[in-house]
Amino acid sequence: MIVLGIESSCDETAAALVREDGTVLCDVVRSQVALHAAFGGVVPELASRAHLSAIGAVMQEALSAAPDGLASVDAIAVTAGPGLAGALLVGASAAKALAWATGKPLVGVSHLDAHLLAVQLRRSPADSPVPYPYVALLVSGGHTALYRVDSPLAITMLGQTRDDAAGEAFDKAAKLLGLGYPGGPLVDRLAALGDARAVAFPAPMQSRSELEFSFAGLKTALARWIEREGAPADDSRLADVCASYQRVLVESLVKKSLAACEREGVRRLVLTGGVAANRGLRELARARAEGVGVELHVPPFASCTDNAAMVAYAGIVKLLDPAYVPAPVLTYTRDAGRRRGRFDREGKLLPASRPR
Ligand code: KG4
Ligand code: ZN
Repeated sequence: MIVLGIESSCDETAAALVREDGTVLCDVVRSQVALHAAFGGVVPELASRAHLSAIGAVMQEALSAAPDGLASVDAIAVTAGPGLAGALLVGASAAKALAWATGKPLVGVSHLDAHLLAVQLRRSPADSPVPYPYVALLVSGGHTALYRVDSPLAITMLGQTRDDAAGEAFDKAAKLLGLGYPGGPLVDRLAALGDARAVAFPAPMQSRSELEFSFAGLKTALARWIEREGAPADDSRLADVCASYQRVLVESLVKKSLAACEREGVRRLVLTGGVAANRGLRELARARAEGVGVELHVPPFASCTDNAAMVAYAGIVKLLDPAYVPAPVLTYTRDAGRRRGRFDREGKLLPASRPR
């Protein structure tokens, strides 16, 4: 089976071809970062328009990698949500039109499930599947949550952020420090040059038993610090502030992730989402996980950030499920039902028993 994946939930227009075993045949991603940079964040209407002008060419480029173009494709998978309303509609409409014109099956997938399964993609022959179950920390610009993944279709949320996402906390810090957008990579780069103990920012949500995050207080602490001390006077001070801020943020992510592994009795941790690119996070997670005998898996960068290969793969696991029933693709901006607990294929919360 070869599936064409289509992704347009935020600021990346993407299309990819993926084989049943997770092999990525081709993965095309058009980033809109340059378009939104001037505004310091994603402007939804501009995102929709940019998706509209890019989607045709992106899909065509992906299809050109198939041996027989469109004829090689067995099904189409598209992100149904969560994401920006107008942006999602562009990908969903393109996918529906193609499915209608070709008579091929169409499956809508959750962008979050796609992120959680991205570690299973085979981008090189050396990549091997990660065994289930695993605990996954999904950290991106819009989401920060811990999940237990028992199988591709049995995903339990263990806890999430009460306010800002980790990526948002990085982006807002960069904005406060006048660094530019997106802020995560900029803070990351400067943090590597600074002293992480230079500024004492408050550590959020210290209790290990609570698998939740909170980053709004940290951002406010940085804003107050700048009000009090003024903007960092030189590059070395700026690096110290970035390093101190990043340390507190990353400590919280790693601590809760390992607490989740311990509570769930799972010795495998996966980091995914754009923030998983953060060097401070990778290094701390690697050191701490090794210390407690937890196996750490971090997918390559192309699988961490938004892409359509993960969407195709999330579609494949649904299509291969014997219980799969085709359903119309209805886009949704928020995962309203995504409280703690287990969810069925349509995103509805199931009764409390844990899947094994
Ligand atoms: O997953 P992603 O590409 O898009 C979604 O939000 O879905 O994640 C983007 C986020 C941005 O907030 C960006 O600042 C952050 O990931 N990010 C990083 C790094 N690279 C990207 N944050 C910290 N360190 C990085 N190296
Ligand atoms: Zn994402």
